[in-house]
Amino acid sequence: MTASPPPTAAHTTLNGHLQDKAKAPDALRHVILDIARAGRSIRHAIQTSEGGLSGGSNQFGEKQLKIDVIADQLMEQYLRESGHVACFCSEEHDDIVEIDPKAPYSVVFDPLDGSSLVDANFAIGSIFGIYPGSEIIGRAPHEQVAAGYVLYGPRTIFVYSTGSGVHAFLLNDEGEFVLLQEHMGVADTAKNYSPGNLSAIHDNPGYKKALDHWLDGMTLRYSGCMVADIHHVLAKGQGVFTNVGGSKYPEGKLRLVFECGPFAYLVEQAGGASSDGKASLLQKKIMTPDQRTPIIVGSKKEVEDVVQLLHS
Ligand code: AHG
Ligand code: MN
Ligand code: MN
Repeated sequence: MTASPPPTAAHTTLNGHLQDKAKAPDALRHVILDIARAGRSIRHAIQTSEGGLSGGSNQFGEKQLKIDVIADQLMEQYLRESGHVACFCSEEHDDIVEIDPKAPYSVVFDPLDGSSLVDANFAIGSIFGIYPGSEIIGRAPHEQVAAGYVLYGPRTIFVYSTGSGVHAFLLNDEGEFVLLQEHMGVADTAKNYSPGNLSAIHDNPGYKKALDHWLDGMTLRYSGCMVADIHHVLAKGQGVFTNVGGSKYPEGKLRLVFECGPFAYLVEQAGGASSDGKASLLQKKIMTPDQRTPIIVGSKKEVEDVVQLLHS
């Protein structure tokens, strides 16, 4: 019998990458690692909650929490334990929740994005952004010091940026996030389009023009989960994702703080562009926790063309 080879450190871990490549300050590195750990627990909760997926009661008549609420509680627990978080802004809370005003960072997050897709077993995700200090209101997404997401699909993937490229990690069988792809890039032109809030074409003629332009030779890739749809853009290195307004949702359906802001940061880091129809989303001032904003994000030239069509 031959002895098995000793374990090797052939993989770059998320922790190693944050330390050696991103050169993230220790406290920031710890916050990002804590969010990745929360993601690992959320993934476990998604895979093990049965009737609790949409809330209600289980077969024993016991009340079960919605999976969004479970994900939110897991995020909160890890952020509280981190010791580096001043406050957080979550989709599941009406107001910003203070933890420790002296701590160095504030975290914004959507604990579960696309949760209505969970019964269909589509991919879903968690989104986060990190701001320095203890204020979120009054800031703009360009002030984030990091942003990222966890995608719970056939594989669980963690993607982050601290301002030096966008990097993807795969959750392995040992529960470790290991490097999958460094420096994800977005080309200037798009072949794929991902049109959210599409019913707005009926009362937004510019959006209808954008759709007609896409139908003329581009390929639809839309799942209904922003995390999966924008990950598609980053993974394929091209594409455009939109969610713009109509009469029902004049500003589109998505929130600036914890949905659009983090993705604007990531896609612009990867060489793409983001817009609310007027300017880069990175410059858009956060006024309230639940502020909605139109979003056009992805390949630069396509974002420019769509913005033009929206105004035509
Ligand atoms: P959430 O599950 O956090 O409420 O967000 C779902 C969002 C987003 O993921 C997706 O892009 C959008 O809702 C779907 O909008 P449409 O139904 O208009 O496609
Ligand atoms: Mn969401
Ligand atoms: Mn959500």
